[in-house]
Amino acid sequence: MAYRLAYALIMALLLIMPGAGLSLPPSAPETRASEDVHRATIELGRSLFYDRRLSGNGRVACASCHRQELGFSDGRIVPVGATGAPLRRNAPGLFNSGELSVFTWAHEVRQLDQQIERALFTANPPEMGVAGNETIVIDRLRTDSVYLHRFADAFPADDDPFTWKRITEALGAFVRSLNARNTPYDRYVYLGDRAALSEAAKRGMALFFSPGLACGHCHVDLSPPERATPPRWSDLAFVATGAGRSADRGLAEHTGNPADACRFRVPPLRNVSVTAPYMHDGSLSTLEDVIRFYESGGRWGAGVEPECTSARHPLIAGFVLSDSERRDLIAFLEALTDEEALKNPAFADPFRSQ
Ligand code: HEC
Ligand code: HEC
Repeated sequence: MAYRLAYALIMALLLIMPGAGLSLPPSAPETRASEDVHRATIELGRSLFYDRRLSGNGRVACASCHRQELGFSDGRIVPVGATGAPLRRNAPGLFNSGELSVFTWAHEVRQLDQQIERALFTANPPEMGVAGNETIVIDRLRTDSVYLHRFADAFPADDDPFTWKRITEALGAFVRSLNARNTPYDRYVYLGDRAALSEAAKRGMALFFSPGLACGHCHVDLSPPERATPPRWSDLAFVATGAGRSADRGLAEHTGNPADACRFRVPPLRNVSVTAPYMHDGSLSTLEDVIRFYESGGRWGAGVEPECTSARHPLIAGFVLSDSERRDLIAFLEALTDEEALKNPAFADPFRSQ
């Protein structure tokens, strides 16, 4: 819509002042140059994302916990950081995370770059384990001639682009480039491809948005522009569902507010069919387990703080599904996967494809 309006305005302008069109060609090389730099920044970020040398001890890369074929999640209950210590919470997928404004399960991180810094520098337990090894890691990258060129191409105006600020920026550019919008659901709704969804998935969609199941209440963005663009499948609220086996007080651990007990961010469901296991602690193995969890009205794991009981969201109240309805709902969740993006060479390990 906005594009069409802009296009119409430009065409009208050209009709009134035909000479106005002449001002376009001189600015084009400049635009191309900035596009080239942007592409170079993404490419640098991609190399860094897949490079174990970016971690303090050279053992893990971002990609160790964020694997493309798994929607950039890692398939484990909880991941293991650079020093071998397990992290507390499950690794989420990263596709389309550039469009989020709340990151992580329950730390309330508001900026993508801030989360990338956490991944690099967090210490207890470490993810990349860079804290205390800042200079060692930078020197490691500096001595690689490939990086010498990549950093210069990405940040041509810098005297010395080998800084953590620039590394974070490049990683951010790569993460923002990870788009997965070609799902059967998106083709059905936004491209009018009636054959994109199977009959089972269509029945599952009706269940998903039905008041009885209420999945759509939390797993749809409510903020404007409502439904004008493909959904990110989360309203990004912090909600207590009752999921989890361990004592994890969720958002309350971060805010110190008892009213936030057991609240976790509603996870986006894009590519959810490949991001198992599920929930903040990876305690549910399959989509069927997740649906059965909701059918039972949520269940509280052993050792969970008593205050969690009062925090449970009223919509997690249970419902009854037949076997075929459960299969339909799963078929719908599977239709939120972009198979192409999971194999797109532009997002793959550049060291492997060389
Ligand atoms: C050892 C495993 C591990 C490594 C290494 C790792 N991550 Fe993560 N990542 C996680 C986990 C676990 C979370 C969820 C953290 C939380 O909720 O507290 C996460 C969350 C994220 C998020 C937020 C996603 C969302 O939906 O909120 C982004 C973005 C991200 N990581 C990017 C990166 C980048 C970039 C790197 C490399 C610099 C990296 N990660 C390295 C495990 C890892
Ligand atoms: C009241 C809000 C709410 C409702 C209603 C709701 N969910 Fe969720 N959903 C959440 C939250 C919060 C989590 C994360 C819980 C956790 O990790 O502790 C979650 C997790 C999930 C996950 C796991 C995603 C992942 O990456 O681990 C799936 C799948 C899911 N929900 C599907 C559904 C379906 C299907 C329905 C309807 C039957 C539904 N949800 C209803 C809030 C909701």
